[in-house]
Order: sequence, then C-alpha cells, then structure tokens
Amino acid sequence: MGGKSIINELPNILKNGKIEVEKILNEDHNIKTEAIVVPSRERDGLFKGKISQYKEREITNRFIYGDNLYTMKSVLKGEGCSSMKGKIDLIYIDPPFLSKANYNSKIRLPLNGKTVTVEKFAYSDFWEEGVVSYLKMLYPRLLLMKDLLSDKGSIYVHLDWHIVHYVKIIMDEVFGKDMFLNEIIWNYKSGGVSKKYFARKHDTILLYSKTKNYIFNSQKEKSYNRGLKPYRFKGVEEFVDDIGWYTLVNMKDVWNIDMVGRTSKERVGYATQKPEKLLERIILSSTDENSIVADFFAGSGTTGVVAERLNRRWILSDIGTNSALTVEKRLIDMEGEQFLLQGLKGYDLVHNGELSIGEIHKKSLEDEKELISFSLEGYKIDINNIPIEEKYRKIVKDVLKENSLNLIDYISIDPDYNGEIFISRWQDFREENIYEINRFVELKVSKKDRRNIAIKVVDVFGFESKYILEI
Ligand SMILES: C[S@@+](CC[C@H](N)C(=O)[O-])C[C@H]1O[C@@H](n2cnc3c(N)ncnc32)[C@H](O)[C@@H]1O
Repeated sequence: MGGKSIINELPNILKNGKIEVEKILNEDHNIKTEAIVVPSRERDGLFKGKISQYKEREITNRFIYGDNLYTMKSVLKGEGCSSMKGKIDLIYIDPPFLSKANYNSKIRLPLNGKTVTVEKFAYSDFWEEGVVSYLKMLYPRLLLMKDLLSDKGSIYVHLDWHIVHYVKIIMDEVFGKDMFLNEIIWNYKSGGVSKKYFARKHDTILLYSKTKNYIFNSQKEKSYNRGLKPYRFKGVEEFVDDIGWYTLVNMKDVWNIDMVGRTSKERVGYATQKPEKLLERIILSSTDENSIVADFFAGSGTTGVVAERLNRRWILSDIGTNSALTVEKRLIDMEGEQFLLQGLKGYDLVHNGELSIGEIHKKSLEDEKELISFSLEGYKIDINNIPIEEKYRKIVKDVLKENSLNLIDYISIDPDYNGEIFISRWQDFREENIYEINRFVELKVSKKDRRNIAIKVVDVFGFESKYILEI
C-alpha cells in the first residue's frame, strides 16, 4: 500500500474533494448525443426498425462515455438530458478495487480457417499513492452520487478486501453512519488459492440508503430444515427439492452466486463482468418498476442489461471505449427500448480506419417501399496506431491481408440521416464463435427521391469511422 498515512490524509481528502465538486459544478462540460439507438438486429440484413419521432430529452436510458466525475455532474445539472438530481432510486457501482492490475480484453479473429486471439488494454487499476489516491478519486464521486439519489434511493458499492474498510469510512462520512444498511458478502468459487492464508473468495458490497424512507422489497431464499426432513409446524409452508425439505425465509446478507465462468452463456469477454443474478437481486430489492437505476462504472453494462429486462430505466457511464461498445451491443441484443449514446466532449472515439463500400443498388418495391443494397468491400487501418503489444501486430497484419473486413466488429446504419442526429435503426455485429459481420447490407425503406444514409463502423480495437452516402 502507498506510503502516506491514511489517517493523516483523510481530512485533506475530504476537504479537497468538496472543493473539487464545488469547482466542477460551476464548469461547463457539454455532453453530446452521438446516437439514438433503436435496437433492430436482423441477421438477414433486412431493415425492420420502427420509424417515429425521437425526442432526445425524453429518453432516460443512456450510456455516457467519459470520466464519471464529469458525466455525473452533467447528469446532475441536466446537460444533454433533464436533470437527474434526486431522481435516481438505485446506484450500483463496481469501481476498480485497487487490485494493482491492468485489465485486458481478448479479441478473437479468424485466420487461415482457425481462430487466433490478440489482447487489447481495457483498463488499469494502478494507483500511485495507493489507498490515498484511490480515496481521492472516489470521495468527490460519492458526493455527486448522493445528490443524484432520490429520497427513496440507495447505493450499493461493490469492493473487496483491498479497499472496502477504507471506503466504509468515507461512505459513513458521505451518507451518514445511520444510513448504513448492509455489508453484503458475495461468496463465489474461482480458481487460485494460497497456502499462506485462507483462500479469498468473496467480494463485499456496502449498502447505504439516502434517507430512512427507502425502497426495500425483501427477497426470499431457501432455508433447509434440520435433517432435511419436514417440520410440519402449523402455519409454516414447506417445500421439497433434490436436497431435501426447506422453508422460504427473508434473504440474508451472504450471497452464494456463481461468477461469470468461462463457459457461461452470459459471458461477453469483459474481464470483470459481474453475474446478472447478482444485479437482479440488487435491482429487485431496491427499486420498483420504472425506477431509474444508474451505474457510473458500467464495464460490460450488466446493470443496464438487468434493469432493461426488469422494466427499469437506466443510466450507465464508463471511461473505456471497450466498455462503450460492449454495452451498446449487449443492449441491442436484448431488442429492448431505444437508448441514447452520449459522450462527454473530448471523449470522441478515435478515427483510425477507412471502410470501402461497393456500388449502391436501389430497387422499387410494393407499398411505396424501396430496397437499397450494397456490400462492404474492405477496411484499411493504420496498424501502428493500434494499442496492442508488438507480438500481436503481425497477427493483425495477417488478418488484414486475408480479409480486412474481419477486423470490423460492429456496423450500424441510419437510412434517413437528418444531418443532426444519428438514429441507429439497424445494427449488426460479430457474435461469439462467428467473428465475422454480414458484408451485404439490405435496407427496406420508404421510397424517397433523395436520402442520406449514415453508416457507423467500429473495428475490434474500438476505432470508429462514419460515412454518409447521398443517394
Ligand atoms: C470492475 S469494472 C465494472 C464491471 C461491471 N460491473 C460489469 O459487470 O461488467 C470497473 C469499470 O470502471 C471503469 N472506470 C474506471 N474509472 C472510471 C472513471 N473515472 N469514470 C468512468 N468509468 C471508470 C473502467 O473502465 C471499468 O470498466
């Protein structure tokens, strides 16, 4: 751990954190809406998206790309959305843990009939001054989160043994000791044990509410009877499963939930992805239908995915391009409600690649419709700008040579681009085990003499390029 004494530094961390928040609240950090995404993914490429009027400010569900200190402040002040001050019923955060590790994500690419893997950097969890700089990062962010929470709201802070005891102290400071509700132990099985101490197999989730009048829907869990036999007490409902007889009791604070394992269907390849079951328990316990749920360290977007499934509204934010794309794809796959993709100014995805598109064909159809079709021909990228280790560069070169389109991860199209906002109405992306996108695009749209088609592609390294076809 870092050299500075935490006890000595704490007063400064608190004082400077408050000053930082005051300062930021007076600054302008504009948020730009990059796209309205209407999930619509047909493998045959036929466009069936709903076309209606979209009012950006009326859509709550959003992913904001950028440092959450500034994205939260913008959400609080209503920049690029209506102000969320006091509107959010649940905040779950799973920040880096002070694990002193760099997290990479694996990219699988087809080459010579096989699948090869390269790794790209996802995010870093190194802190120069150890605990002190970690708390300096977290404290001002917690102050903003408190302002965002509604009076019925609660916050879950997911940590582990590296930092949880220090964070508990600043949580008490921000939310008040009286608002502490639980220290939830998420117990899991995973590989790797030490011979020098007990195997560390749990994370700790601190739960606080904003006021005493918070939402809490008690969940039930099985409690097996002694001897696994029926008790037959009057008025007690009993059940039986493969293990034996049990009753249902209010859920306790130790949760046994499997991690997202290597073979799990949920797995999206994001290093610290949390299981949906964990978020389901949290969201069901601390929100009602239509509540707004936020996660400002979104990672692979598990919180948004579960919130969407449970009919809650959601706001996610993350600083990583890898996270931005993973979240977008996961939510499109669910075919749920439309959502916004926003970015803090200065956090635009970097442009590094060049897509070439073949001839565009137009064919009249019945009912005032037309079919527009074209193919993706190739993709060029400056290989020296890719953030990967040298050992992987040769592999990428070979993939580019064999079929450059295999570096495209994601494509989305607005068949009626209005010149202002990209409304993504058709999307396609690589699947686990398919690693190729469909190179033929067919859009069935209403007939028009002239239209602008906007195309966005993102490659496997997170580089984005945009094209407008005037036809
Ligand atoms: C442990 S991961 C979250 C994993 C997530 N719970 C899931 O299920 O996939 C932590 C995330 O915090 C993000 N992060 C770190 N610092 C951030 C910051 N200042 N602003 C926004 N996101 C940040 C990282 O990019 C990373 O995706």
